[in-house]
Amino acid sequence: MDKIKDTYNRPIISLRISITNRCNIQCFYCHHDGMLNSKEEITSDEIFQIAKVAKNLGVEKVRLSGGEPLVRSDIVDIVKKLNTLNFKDISITTNGIFLDKYAEDLVNVGLKRVNVSLDTLKPETYKCITKKDYLSEVKNGILKAVDVGIYPVKINMVVMKGINDNEIHDMFSFCKDNGLILQLIEILETDNCEDNNFNEKYHFDMTPLEKEFTDLASEVTVRKFMQDRKKYFIDGGEVEIVRPMDNTKFCENCTRLRITPEGKIKPCLLRNDNLVDLISHIRSGDSEKDLEEIFISAVNSREPYFIDD
Ligand code: GTP
Ligand code: 5AD
Repeated sequence: MDKIKDTYNRPIISLRISITNRCNIQCFYCHHDGMLNSKEEITSDEIFQIAKVAKNLGVEKVRLSGGEPLVRSDIVDIVKKLNTLNFKDISITTNGIFLDKYAEDLVNVGLKRVNVSLDTLKPETYKCITKKDYLSEVKNGILKAVDVGIYPVKINMVVMKGINDNEIHDMFSFCKDNGLILQLIEILETDNCEDNNFNEKYHFDMTPLEKEFTDLASEVTVRKFMQDRKKYFIDGGEVEIVRPMDNTKFCENCTRLRITPEGKIKPCLLRNDNLVDLISHIRSGDSEKDLEEIFISAVNSREPYFIDD
């Protein structure tokens, strides 16, 4: 089936479903994956219906995010249902706390890969960032995910000046030694941050690191539909640098559409003023064809947030 494209000729390849706003840690920098703060959560059947509409229109991949997706007690059921739709890829972005508990069941029902947020290997720094003490649970969860055959397991490390920028090399070794891929993420200032000098305080410039990695790498590749992210292969390990803002290709190559926990289509990560209601149409029993029309109209409303001039 041909992929659905927006009016800027961008194919929609990936559906990112935020299945909850709840989270069991409180990272001070969290952007909540661009979501609003509603307490409503779509059911596993509704998630299935939404994903089916997207699949009918050529979407290939689904990612579940949050909040923290593993706080939903029906997470295995959600993945199991999604797996009947034959997507190329089903993945989860998680903080890893419940991964030890769920990794095996998730892989058995079709989960392909997982990204785990882990910014530090030091218990005191973990507590300072997340306000909780779950570092050993997260590490166990990561190792369990590798053990049950989830591949790849990626580690998302948001790099913060003065907090964990001195741990980049240790984190790389930890990842390399355990068969994990490291994603180093440039911190984004968000509306939730109460700190006035947030950027000045925490922003870590990745440019020198990119130079260092380029010199060290045996190979560097570019992920075109992932904001031209660079991936470095160094000494048997893999590290990717994610610079969410410092990139004019950010919008040009955006192939993602989002769903909010209350079941609205969110055409752009960076905007909340153009959400499209889908869930009330599902709840009132509209036909699949009608739901596809709503999905298509949401895709047609997509506008690049950054214009490259
Ligand atoms: P994969 O590498 O394919 O697993 O995807 P991913 O790295 O985008 O997924 P993940 O959910 O782990 O997000 C990692 C980082 O990418 C986070 O810092 C996100 O904020 C950022 N990110 C997520 N969605 C988007 C997006 O739509 N655009 C951009 N530029 N960054 C995003
Ligand atoms: N800046 C950059 N990345 C962030 N994440 C959460 N908040 C921010 C932010 N302010 C990342 C986390 C998580 C992913 C979904 O988003 O690392 O893994």
